[in-house]
Amino acid sequence: MMKNIGLVGFGFIGSFLFERLKDNKEVSVKAVFDPLPQKTKSLDSQLVCTDLAELASRPLDLIVEVAHADVVKALLPIITSNADLMVASMTCFSDAEFRNRTEQNAIKNGRKIFLPHGAILGLDGLRDGRTLLDSVSITTTKHPKSLGITNSQITKPTILFEGSTQEACSKFPRNVNVHAAFALAGLGFEATHSVIIADPNTNKMHHRIEVQGRGLSWNLEIESFSAGEVTGSYTPESLYQSLITILSKDKGFCIV
Ligand SMILES: NC(=O)c1ccc[n+]([C@@H]2O[C@H](COP(=O)([O-])OP(=O)(O)OC[C@H]3O[C@@H](n4cnc5c(N)ncnc54)[C@H](O)[C@@H]3O)[C@@H](O)[C@H]2O)c1
Repeated sequence: MMKNIGLVGFGFIGSFLFERLKDNKEVSVKAVFDPLPQKTKSLDSQLVCTDLAELASRPLDLIVEVAHADVVKALLPIITSNADLMVASMTCFSDAEFRNRTEQNAIKNGRKIFLPHGAILGLDGLRDGRTLLDSVSITTTKHPKSLGITNSQITKPTILFEGSTQEACSKFPRNVNVHAAFALAGLGFEATHSVIIADPNTNKMHHRIEVQGRGLSWNLEIESFSAGEVTGSYTPESLYQSLITILSKDKGFCIV
């Protein structure tokens, strides 16, 4: 049966998903919302919503957020009442009170909130082993521009942040979704350790994940080329495939 989706955000990832879904006979984009009119001007006007309330009023199976953590915060109470949700900007869930409200809202409305694995791998294994974990540490190295730093004076690899994933998410909400995903799957935002390094000599997004636990010791190295402003080249395709899995099998990593 044909599934209908709505896109919130029509930037690098949103427009990729739209193009990728054009040939898919089982999924149809029925609504798009982006506050910048120039982003959606090439689309059929019937698809374009003037605000999120309009998007949420359309009959959709899944709303896909690919905008910004603040957007999820501002809009989640509206959208979970009408459709399931897939959230790319998962740093928003570092706010425990917001996460709790979101979960209650989704439960009350019989909805699911899916988290795509996005830029990284291994969330399923981490989640399955979470009762055994002692420590999870993630070190991300990106070009300063990919960390939102323009006109950078940084000339060599420099540690910009070291501390809890909780704090990393509030300081770098657009840049540490990988850290948020590992916190949600594993030890939570306070207990997960984050390091962020700006390297002016790289064109890659590099994540090193070190996990220690009872009977286990894991090291993951994950690298992709920078593609969008904050996004690596693997992420849009991985989000597309997560979307298809959710819609075809109603399966995926959920917070509720
Ligand atoms: N989970 C992951 O692994 C992962 C990886 C990469 C990026 N991301 C996140 O995905 C999101 C999208 O990334 P991108 O590369 O497409 O960014 P982008 O900047 O290219 O696009 C974001 C779009 O959201 C729009 N937007 C801003 N405010 C909005 C609002 N109130 N409602 C709807 N749209 C709004 C912007 O106009 C823009 O077009 C970002 O938050 C990014 O941090 C997650």
